Formats: sequence, structure tokens, C-alpha cells
Amino acid sequence: MANVIAIILAAGKGTRMKSDLVKVMHPVGGQPMICWPVEVAREAGAEKVVLVTGHQSETVREFFANAPDIVFALQEEQLGTGHAVACAREACAGFGGTVVILSGDVPLLRAETVQAMVAHHEERAAAVTVLTTQVCDPFGYGRIVKREGGRILRIVEEKDATEEERGITEINAGIYCVNAAFLFDAVTRLDNRNRQGEYYLTDIVKAASEQNELCVSFSVSDADEVMGVNDRVQLAQAASVVRGRINRDLMLSGITIVDPATAYIEKQVSIGRDTTIHPNVHISGNTIIGAGCVIEPGAVIRACTIGKGVTVKTGTVMTDSVLHDEVSVGPMAHLRPGTVLHSHVKIGNFVETKKIEMGEGSKASHLTYLGDATIGSDVNVGCGTITCNYDGVRKHRTVIGDGVFVGSDVQFVAPVTIGCNSLIAAGTTVTKDVPPDSLAIARSPQVNKEGWKLKKK
Ligand code: UD1
Ligand code: CA
Repeated sequence: MANVIAIILAAGKGTRMKSDLVKVMHPVGGQPMICWPVEVAREAGAEKVVLVTGHQSETVREFFANAPDIVFALQEEQLGTGHAVACAREACAGFGGTVVILSGDVPLLRAETVQAMVAHHEERAAAVTVLTTQVCDPFGYGRIVKREGGRILRIVEEKDATEEERGITEINAGIYCVNAAFLFDAVTRLDNRNRQGEYYLTDIVKAASEQNELCVSFSVSDADEVMGVNDRVQLAQAASVVRGRINRDLMLSGITIVDPATAYIEKQVSIGRDTTIHPNVHISGNTIIGAGCVIEPGAVIRACTIGKGVTVKTGTVMTDSVLHDEVSVGPMAHLRPGTVLHSHVKIGNFVETKKIEMGEGSKASHLTYLGDATIGSDVNVGCGTITCNYDGVRKHRTVIGDGVFVGSDVQFVAPVTIGCNSLIAAGTTVTKDVPPDSLAIARSPQVNKEGWKLKKK
């Protein structure tokens, strides 16, 4: 959209959140709430985004430190939404087009809605267009007071409304299109003679009608889109709507989600078709999952890259790991950062891995810790194997060649290297390198004392 600037109001504290963290930084769908309107402004094609910050301004600014398209305006004292817009005046100096005003606490708005609203505003050559919707319970929102013919006369806040006005169910979403010249003149003329002693942005509507400027509404039917987040009940509701949208898109693109109400998948996640997501799965960060995978109940996957045909079994937790095609992990496996599993690797229950690479077809099926290790292909790691990678000061690597068979209850005291095709006998504590094709055994010989039990009696 040419000739459109977006101003996003985000200076308020969010008193009703009862939080030490400023409201707009509370996460919704895996990112701070403020990211949603910022993305809407960008997607809608605003040439500039002015973010009005105030309360915990530094936290918000730091978050967007690497976003060159965002300009900040400081509202030192939070004197109301009208005052907040007035603080953005300098950042918009010389601009003569349409200003889209978004609210930092309205995360569910769609870019298409903003585009349609701008078109509506410009076609009618209105001074102000207010985004509105009909709700069953208008409590807490500004009510739209209209004149016959559909023009908006004024907006009245809950706290200032008469009994009759409270009955109005068309509410102000807090999203507007305003002619720039009219806006920056109107916001300097506001007063704060109201129940909250604030400079209300909503009063520009009254100013417009008094000056015979056109003020119209643009109505959305999906009330979710304009839901404001003021407390933690609404925060949870907004998060649930975001999840619903993400899950719906995934399902329509060919992914089976067994119970969408309990699939917690973040926006950046990409999933291939015919993958099945079972209940209570959490997938976050820049995770990529290939086609035809099965993610069983309770899996937690953060920032992982997963190939095709992978099975992640119940209760498995993985972070920053790479799983190639046809890998199987879990149930109850823990893959920590830096785990790379090549195709057809099998990791079984109660196995923990960290900074390891495991070659094609290798297995660690039960109860094992593998850290700081390079393991070749077709290696069998027996039950109860431990890489002793930490000497109390430094971490050391274990290197295991292709085709090695590691018996049960083996400890590798790193640094140590095992040559290809060797066999490590069960119960061995490996403290020296093992050459290829060898048997390594380190355990005290067994002594059987016959008749011992009878003598005891
Ligand atoms: C506002 C509207 C109300 C509308 C509702 C929709 C006014 C007076 N009221 O009420 O008609 O129905 O939004 O959600 O505008 N902010 C600042 N500086 C301030 C005050 C607020 O930047 O001095 C920011 C807040 O951080 C927030 C947004 O403006 O992101 C809205 O403020 P909030 O106090 O939540 O307004 P509401 O009472 O919800
Ligand atoms: Ca609000």
C-alpha cells in the first residue's frame, strides 16, 4: 500500500495483566504480542511502522533492535491513547497520506482486513474510519454511537457510558484509518475531561463530526480478529485462537492432527504432508518436519530438523537436533542440542544424547548416555552404556568406528577411540583406545564358591 504509515500503540503498562512484564511483551503463539500487529502492518504494506513505546520502552526497543523498518516514538507518561498518537507526530512529519493506527494489544487482526479497511477509507474519502464489530458482551470496549445513515457520531468508553449507551453492541476495535493532516491536528486539541482523566484517541471521532468531516465504520464479522488482550484470561483466549489458525492451515495442507485442541505448534514450524501429530505435542522454534512422520503423544520438539518417515515416540524431548530420514526415537528419549542422527538410526527409551553424531543404521536402544561422541554406522550400543565425557574440568570426545558392537553396561572414559568392527565386552570400562577388529574386555574374573550358601547356614 503506497502512502500508508502505521502507528502501533504499545506504551501502556497493561495494569490488568498484574505483571512485572509490560503487556505487549507477553507471548502469544511463541512471540511477544507486539510482533503480531507489527507483522500485520508490514504485510499490509505500510511504508513505515511507528511504534509508540513508554512503559518498559527499552525492553520493546531492544527486541526490535534489528528491524530497520521500525521507527520508535517515546510516550514518556501514559496520558491516554490520543496522547500516544500525538507522540508519533514527529516521526510522521511531512506525511500526507493515510495513517493506520493499530493497537499493540490486538494480536489477532489480519493484514487482509487492514488492506480492505484502507480501501474502504480511501474510496469514501473519509477523515476517519473505525474498525468495529458486533459482540454479545461489549463490556470494557468503547461503544459506537451512530447517526442515521451510518455515520459515527462519537465513541463512548465503558466508564463514561450511560446505561443506554452500554447497551450498544457495536464496539470500537481500537484500529483506525485516519487522514494524516486531520489526525495530527485533532490529537493536539483533545482534552482529558472524562472518568479516566485520559486523552482519548476515540474523541477524534467527535471532532470529525463537529467539523463535518466524514467518519465511517468498517465492520468485521469475525470478532476474534479484534479481540483486545487486557488480562491473562484474554491472553489465553488469544493464544488459543492463534493455535486454531495454525492448526487449521496445517490440516488443510495435508497434515493429520488427531486433536487440534491439544496440538501446540508455533507459526514458524513447517511440516510435510501425511505427517501425523498426536495429542499434546509441542513443536516450537524453526522446526522443520518432513513428510510421513509420526509424532506421538507428549513429544516436545524445539528448533529441530527432521527428515521423512521419522517416528518420534511418546514423551520424547528434543532440542536443536537433526534427524535424517526413517529415524526412530523414544519413547522417553532426550535429544539435547547438537545431536545429529543419520538415516535409520534407532534411539530407544531412556537414552540421552548431546553433541553426538550417529551414523546410518546405528542403534542405542535402552538406558544410555551418549555425549560428545562421534559414532560410525551400524554400531550397536548396548543397554546401560555411558560416555564419561567430563573429567570435572573439561569435556572429552569418544570416537566409535563403523560396525562396533558395544555390550551392555560399558563406560567409555573419554578421550577414547574405538577402531572399526571391534567388540567391547559387557561390563567393560574402556580407558584405552581399542584397535580395529579387536575384543576389549576389562572386568574381574568371576569366582564361584560352591556350597557357600549351605555353609553359611
Ligand atoms: C481502547 C479504546 C476503546 C476500544 C479498545 C479496543 C480508547 C480511549 N479506548 O480501550 O474504545 O474499544 O481500545 O481494544 O482509545 N496505550 C498507549 N499509551 C497510553 C494508553 C494506551 O500507548 O497512554 C496503548 C496501550 O499500550 C494499548 C493500546 O494503547 O496497546 C490500547 O490501550 P488500552 O488502555 O488497552 O485501551 P482500552 O481501555 O482497551
Ligand atoms: Ca486494550
